[in-house]
Amino acid sequence: MAATRPLAIVTGASSGIGFELARECAENGFDLLIAADRPLTNAVRDLTSQGARVEAIQAELATPEGVDALCAAVKGRPVDALLANAGHGLGNGFLDQSFDEITHVIDTNITGTLYLIHKVGTDMRTRGSGRILITGSIAGFMPGAFQAVYNGTKAFIDSFSWALRNELRDTGITVTCLMPGATDTEFFARADMLDTKVGTEKKMEASQVAKIGFKAMMDGEADVVAGFRNKIQAAVAAVTPSTVLAEQHRRMAEPGSAKHHRSSHR
Ligand SMILES: NC(=O)c1ccc[n+]([C@@H]2O[C@H](COP(=O)([O-])OP(=O)(O)OC[C@H]3O[C@@H](n4cnc5c(N)ncnc54)[C@H](OP(=O)(O)O)[C@@H]3O)[C@@H](O)[C@H]2O)c1
Repeated sequence: MAATRPLAIVTGASSGIGFELARECAENGFDLLIAADRPLTNAVRDLTSQGARVEAIQAELATPEGVDALCAAVKGRPVDALLANAGHGLGNGFLDQSFDEITHVIDTNITGTLYLIHKVGTDMRTRGSGRILITGSIAGFMPGAFQAVYNGTKAFIDSFSWALRNELRDTGITVTCLMPGATDTEFFARADMLDTKVGTEKKMEASQVAKIGFKAMMDGEADVVAGFRNKIQAAVAAVTPSTVLAEQHRRMAEPGSAKHHRSSHR
């Protein structure tokens, strides 16, 4: 009989950082249960070629039903690692965003993420072991003018992650927060931010970010900011007044800021 490989759940694994996190898991001996809200056929094919057994669930993780469907697919197996990564942004001014879209960001990034961690974390605590990696963001350190709700959700997630880690310190479960900066994924297209400075400037590769996050999770670190430039940005943000950070964010994320950025560099 084939030896049992540990099982990892990766959400948001159809593209970007989540797909690369799943690849790291596969390359490092995990079997996978992956989830996203669009079909995962390509991801399953690519990850299976790394030697992992891969199951995919197409589920709307902003809803309790979607999270329940993902948990049902675990079928009682022990989950060794939970990589709660699914999330999305939302550009434009708050009053110009649709409230349905606003709710979807909060329900995906916060409520669905917490519901999943609550369910899987409870089983991990019963077993006395497990690794949880949560994708937060350095966006959580700055008030995100023209992406206000998203940055707020990431401030919540960063904070929640550190608190949960502390609560679980004697349980055998480690909680790690991966905090990427701008990363080259479908994030900015999906958030309607392709005409912004941050949406158009050079970004880190998702594969690099995932490698850093996976290693931090395996090492049981509390958190990791991906990349040297982002580490500097995060450190500077910690000592910069919030009003200044909001103004800086406006320059990166205001619709049309890509044009100002390009013309100022001519
Ligand atoms: N890119 C950046 O600059 C950046 C920076 C810091 C943090 N992050 C965080 O990194 C994480 C991954 O984002 P990414 O940059 O890799 O973007 P991405 O390429 O758009 O990937 C997002 C993933 O999350 C899934 N997803 C989003 N909403 C979902 C929902 N309601 N239900 C189920 N699946 C959902 C997407 O599934 P579908 O493709 O099926 O829709 C996709 O697999 C997010 O939490 C994001 O906030 C990104």
